[in-house]
Amino acid sequence: MAVAANLRLGFFLLVLPQLFSAGLAVEPLSVGLAIGIASALTGYLSHPRFYCSLMECCRQEEPLNVTALQLDLQNKLFGQHLVKEVILRAMTRFMSNQNPKKPLTLSLHGWSGTGKNFISKIISENIYKEGLNSKYVHLFVSTIHFQHDNQLSLYKDQLQAWIRGNVSACARSVFIFDEMDKLHPGLIDAIKPFLDYYEQVDGVSYRNAIFIFLSNAGGDLITQVALDFWKSGKKREDMQLKDLETILSVGVFNNKNSGLWHSSLIDKNLIDYFVPFLPLEYRHVKMCIAAELQARKYEADPEIIARIAEEMTYFPKAEKIYSDKGCKTVAAKLDLHIEL
Ligand SMILES: *[C@@H]1O[C@H](CO)[C@@H](O)[C@H](O)[C@H]1NC(C)=O
Ligand SMILES: *[C@@H]1O[C@H](CO)[C@@H](O)[C@H](O)[C@H]1NC(C)=O
Repeated sequence: MAVAANLRLGFFLLVLPQLFSAGLAVEPLSVGLAIGIASALTGYLSHPRFYCSLMECCRQEEPLNVTALQLDLQNKLFGQHLVKEVILRAMTRFMSNQNPKKPLTLSLHGWSGTGKNFISKIISENIYKEGLNSKYVHLFVSTIHFQHDNQLSLYKDQLQAWIRGNVSACARSVFIFDEMDKLHPGLIDAIKPFLDYYEQVDGVSYRNAIFIFLSNAGGDLITQVALDFWKSGKKREDMQLKDLETILSVGVFNNKNSGLWHSSLIDKNLIDYFVPFLPLEYRHVKMCIAAELQARKYEADPEIIARIAEEMTYFPKAEKIYSDKGCKTVAAKLDLHIEL
């Protein structure tokens, strides 16, 4: 659509000078016509729909395309039935609420490679076409952006100014904090006021913003629940959110390493949804490989898929059920195999 619009614009810009020169040379009627076209064009250009197909716009009232999100979750995310359920519910409710009482806050938990970054990307892309590259989507990685503890007060001021500045410019801004468990508690305090049930903070409303927190915290607990489920012969897909939710909020809350940030956020009920990412099994790894092959326009050869999946390492030692890097190294392994 953007390309088509671009072409159309290109065409007008090309023809316009000729219309003008032809009009001036021939007769006043043509001049009038040309001016008419020019002003129609100006109107067309300033029309939001058209403008926003060329330039990225802040998303105001445009509803979420639930079907598109559903399809993305179904086709791109593997082995995470609980994540699909929570994210779809959270996003549908929040995006259709004209008057939310607080910003949407999602807390994503699980081992690396289970899809936390991936789901942040999917959410971003379903709000802004440019996804993580959108100027309305902001990704902070604790160990990259806030790595020096002695600069805490600078980080604090900066972060608050950024959140304020960006939300003032666009109410539907998305902030993603990766490695939340490594974020300094002081910075969590700095974010907290933005997450709360305030109508406004210094004249700015944060209620349409979205905050996504990623952490490994609770990954061990989630694995334990999944493993118990498996050992008792139950189907993974029958696992329900309630099987994990309490364990997760209590467990993460009490864990020394992650308790710092959670205690202050959970205490005040600032987190709307806990999203548990289950450890991935051999069959899910195979799905990731097949999807990656397909994305690169290669044939999904079952032999190659199995070979790569078998190269991954699985835990626990005895049962070897779960991939210890989830699907994280799939792309790199594929590079090697395709080179050969
Ligand atoms: C919503 O997404 C679906 C699937 O991608 C697409 O077919 C449909 O046209 C979209 N609807 C709107 C209103 O954009
Ligand atoms: C928005 O956030 C980015 C960081 O993602 C920052 O560089 C930028 O200055 C912020 N914009 C405003 C207006 O504060």
